[in-house]
Amino acid sequence: MVKGGLTTAAFRSYVSDIQEEVHQYFARWGNEGEADLYSAMCELVINTASRTLLGQDVRSQLNDEVARLYHDLDLGFTPINFLFPNLPLPRNIVRDRANLQLRELFVSVLRKRAARLEKLKAEGKEDSEVHHDMLNSLMNATYKDGRSLSEVEVAGLMIALLMAGQHTSSTSATWFGLYLLRDKEYLAKVMAEQESIFGDGKGGYVPLDFEGISNCDRLEYVLKEVLRLCPPIFQIMRTVTEDVYFNDMVIPAGSYVAVSPSVSSLDGKAFPNPNTFDPDRFSPERAEDSTEKNKGLYVPFGHGRHRCIGEPFAYLQIKTIWAAILQTFELEPVGPMNQPNFNSMIVLPETPCMVRYKRRVPL
Ligand code: HEM
Repeated sequence: MVKGGLTTAAFRSYVSDIQEEVHQYFARWGNEGEADLYSAMCELVINTASRTLLGQDVRSQLNDEVARLYHDLDLGFTPINFLFPNLPLPRNIVRDRANLQLRELFVSVLRKRAARLEKLKAEGKEDSEVHHDMLNSLMNATYKDGRSLSEVEVAGLMIALLMAGQHTSSTSATWFGLYLLRDKEYLAKVMAEQESIFGDGKGGYVPLDFEGISNCDRLEYVLKEVLRLCPPIFQIMRTVTEDVYFNDMVIPAGSYVAVSPSVSSLDGKAFPNPNTFDPDRFSPERAEDSTEKNKGLYVPFGHGRHRCIGEPFAYLQIKTIWAAILQTFELEPVGPMNQPNFNSMIVLPETPCMVRYKRRVPL
């Protein structure tokens, strides 16, 4: 039921919304200067995900108070919480309070939307805004037995989706810039692609659209390569529920097992020169992620039953954000490459991630 806001029909309407959000965000940057890419990406990812997946009515609620609630909720994402989610720690108390407040906020948004749709229906009028978003599909979804989701269930799923995509996508979008801006040769190839797909023939660009973004192969290879070098989820854990016999070993029930995309995607046999940023390893000619030999080694989105459902959205979102940024600014990194920070559940770059920017067309 959650996949309803992740269809191609929905994606078509998302690209222009994301581009508009990017332009709105960068209106605060001057013609040239220095700024922290990571904070920009955190804000852009939450704004674009809320606007597209949850709708303009949720996006318009994003203010400092909501940002604080997200921050408080985030405090619960620490390794110890994986093993003991409900210890009476101050940060867990703050987390639970934030969860309740966000839930109330989202319930009020969905009540307003439901009331508006009900009124239009009673008046025999069409809804002027066709909602393709996730909120709409959750409001209309039913369980197998025909029961609708309660308001609290819809609100809980909305929070879960935003949280699932927030750090993973903002981190990946930051590494995207940190790597690409240091590789001038590949950056030139990316810009040539932008020119060929979106160039207006007069030195500017036409508005972004779904077909164009889907055809930005170079942007896609960069994202894949960044996810190989710095997968945000560096270990995927499971509890063993019954004894498992593996080679000559028994993994007893109650143990934890983990797969690490950070380890497998640096396997030199599968990915030659594994520490080198080389996006074209994902081109159809080389396809290092998809050969039979490499099956199971490239797993930044997990594998099997609980594989990420947000992968196509993450590609669309990050490619669109970066197409819009690269068309607007010339950028270069400041200082040495940022190192990964393994202290939280998601591998973040050490901050700040400073870049120097210059607007292609001054304000
Ligand atoms: C670059 C961005 C992302 C990365 C690297 C990523 C990675 C992952 C990984 C590795 C898993 C599997 C976890 C496991 O098996 O224990 C996962 C699950 C999940 N992801 Fe993502 N994710 C990303 C973006 C998103 C976005 C944008 C959304 C929502 C729109 C999302 C929603 C989910 C959900 C709901 C699950 C749980 C699926 C299940 O348990 O059946 N993710 N993600």
